[in-house]
Amino acid sequence: MNIGKKFANFTGVLVIYIVTILFVVPQAFAAGDAKKPESQDWEFQGVFGKFDKPSIKRGLQVYIEVCSSCHSLDQVAYRNLLDIGLTDDEAKAVAEEFEVTDGPDGEGEMFERPARLSDKFVAPFSNENAARAANNGAYPPDLSLIAKAHPGGVDYVYSLLTGFKDEAPEGVELGEDMSYNPYFPGKQISMAQPLYDDSVEYPDGTPATVAQMSWDMANFLHWTAEPEMEQRKSMGWKVVLFLLVLTALLYAVKRQTWAKLH
Ligand code: HEC
Repeated sequence: MNIGKKFANFTGVLVIYIVTILFVVPQAFAAGDAKKPESQDWEFQGVFGKFDKPSIKRGLQVYIEVCSSCHSLDQVAYRNLLDIGLTDDEAKAVAEEFEVTDGPDGEGEMFERPARLSDKFVAPFSNENAARAANNGAYPPDLSLIAKAHPGGVDYVYSLLTGFKDEAPEGVELGEDMSYNPYFPGKQISMAQPLYDDSVEYPDGTPATVAQMSWDMANFLHWTAEPEMEQRKSMGWKVVLFLLVLTALLYAVKRQTWAKLH
């Protein structure tokens, strides 16, 4: 076999190898046949990214008025709402809308009381079986970390919430009580479309379109999943600045030391 042929064989194998890695492997690992979420321009992205607090606050309202009847938010305490700009009284007012079971009291009885700032967000169901029983057997997952836990992240939350279709495309058979949504694995989901235009009324006058509420919800769930993001980024900058100053100092010292030796 001459060198040219060997080389051609080698290149052929290499091309097959690269094509497999680039196109076949990712397909196999993609979440079933679900559509890839469209990536959006979020304000929190990039090294200078910040939380969009007005949007996060609107998302909180959407969560309370719409999603909280099915989804829990176990990792967030009412006290954490101070971080997104609610005053003490506003956060207390949010907490007091929910009842928690406390106790036992002096007689050994459990009792209900309004939630306090130190309580975690109250879950709509006391256990998974109750949640499933109320949702035709499907489990509405806790939303605290969904924006981090799902591979599509915040873009998935946005795409899913805006992606409901009234009817499945021709040839697709929907299961009982299922809704068509191309972004969910299997393209059908047992959550009915939760948001419609004007599902909530925003006090800041922002028109409550499905896209706007989904945007705000995604910003809110990004914050619940990574509340320490702003601190992390500003710490990163301090470290970089420190290292730059340190480098300059060491360089000056080095020059001075060697100047004497020459
Ligand atoms: C009537 C109950 C109900 C309401 C209200 C509701 N959901 Fe759901 N949700 C569910 C159920 C049930 C599932 C699980 C669906 C499945 O497994 O097919 C689900 C699934 C989801 C998922 C997908 C989770 C995953 O693992 O991919 C997200 C995200 C979600 N809901 C967000 C929301 C948001 C945001 C709201 C409020 C705007 C909301 N839901 C309102 C019942 C509800």
